[in-house]
Amino acid sequence: MSRFAHPAGDRHAEVLPEERPPHAPADLNALNPALWPRTSERIDGTISIGGVDVRDLVAEYGSPLLVMDEEDFRSRCRDYRASFHDGDVHYAGKAFLCREVARWIMQEGLGLDVCSAGELAVALSVGFPPERITLHGNNKSVAELERAVVTGVGHIVADSFEEIARLGYLADKHGVRPKVMIRVTVGVEAHTHEFIATAHDDQKFGLSLNSGAAAEAVRRVLALPSLELVGLHSHIGSQISDTAGFEVAARRLAGLLAQIKHEHGVVLPELDLGGGYGIPYVDGDDAPDIKLIAESLREIVAHVCASAGLPLPRLTVEPGRSITGLAGITLYEVGTVKDVEGLRTYVSVDGGMSDNIRTALYGAEYTARLASRSSEAAPMLSRLVGKHCESGDMVIRDLYLPADLAPGDLIAVAGTGAYCRSLANNYNYLPKPAVVAVSGGQARVIVQRETEEDLLRGQL
Ligand code: LLP
Repeated sequence: MSRFAHPAGDRHAEVLPEERPPHAPADLNALNPALWPRTSERIDGTISIGGVDVRDLVAEYGSPLLVMDEEDFRSRCRDYRASFHDGDVHYAGKAFLCREVARWIMQEGLGLDVCSAGELAVALSVGFPPERITLHGNNKSVAELERAVVTGVGHIVADSFEEIARLGYLADKHGVRPKVMIRVTVGVEAHTHEFIATAHDDQKFGLSLNSGAAAEAVRRVLALPSLELVGLHSHIGSQISDTAGFEVAARRLAGLLAQIKHEHGVVLPELDLGGGYGIPYVDGDDAPDIKLIAESLREIVAHVCASAGLPLPRLTVEPGRSITGLAGITLYEVGTVKDVEGLRTYVSVDGGMSDNIRTALYGAEYTARLASRSSEAAPMLSRLVGKHCESGDMVIRDLYLPADLAPGDLIAVAGTGAYCRSLANNYNYLPKPAVVAVSGGQARVIVQRETEEDLLRGQL
């Protein structure tokens, strides 16, 4: 027998994780308002959002389906604008962007962050004002930089020495003077998944504060008269619930502003503190209070700047997940219910890691409910899995669903509005689901479901 292969035991992994084992909820039908879209409710047993019954949504638009609660999304934009009333709020398009979402952002008066020519094209295609757009990225192509410079994108966040030189060249070539910020790596250990933490020195983003690379980048931009250095940028990671990291980052960035004034006699007018504010995915998750964060960040920056004799810079934040995450739910239809005796029940749905790869990629946790009816049946330890050819294809690793669950039932997964559609893929040639917006009892398709024709397009 091989040294590595051996007869399988009962189970391949622990039945329940030792850390945070899920508890059967007291009420399997309850919708915790902290986790579900603001307009969701159960009416006669069935979940409805935006005044539309989920059964009608699936009957009309098919399954799986990403449903966006427009009112939820817009109200979170307004909450951010109210909290940062004296600064700017830029929605991070990478969390979920399509033409209609770009219109919502535009109408709610937010700016938009893009990190590729593709995201920029979505925004420009609906007439999003370029001056309210910021371009990010650790390796923007020359073509992307040129497009931003020519279009008059409001801010370009420089992430490397090469990029500063390229920007200087492009600005000269086109006779324009773009506003530039420096992406600073502030050396904060953000408490989140390794793949989404971005402020420690050992990673690809930004220019290190500790090593002096950030200060050198400032020197280089200031030496190029065709670039207007307006400020510093930091983004410490994503899905962060402990606000201390944001505060340390703000303090360090403000410290660098003071150092720049001391060295160059230049007062930079802007600080961009990035995004990363976490949202609750399961019962008991903490989420930072945006209003309190806004107050504490303003206070910290004001304090450091005042002691250096600097005016308070204009603050920008770049939330993505915390605007769109809870506005979206995914509806799936149950296909098979397989009881693995003594262990758990595998509930297979008609999507999976092609429409939500976050569980496989980051060990993300989600909450799901039987959506097409209520049930008084006992809780059954389950694993919500997709239909892909991979055993890591899980939507939710451990959850409780009612024991009378049956094929044809609809399951709703909460909190899928961020980084699900934008990370979606066509593994096993599954078409990407449609995205439907609901509001005031009406539903409309904002992104069409892919067809077989879409899947075959472009092939010989
Ligand atoms: N600003 C910058 C420069 C960013 O890189 C990001 C996210 C944001 C703002 C928005 O962060 P948020 O508020 O959404 O946390 N795919 C991962 C998340 C990657 C985040 C990348 N950058 C996930 O599914 O958790």
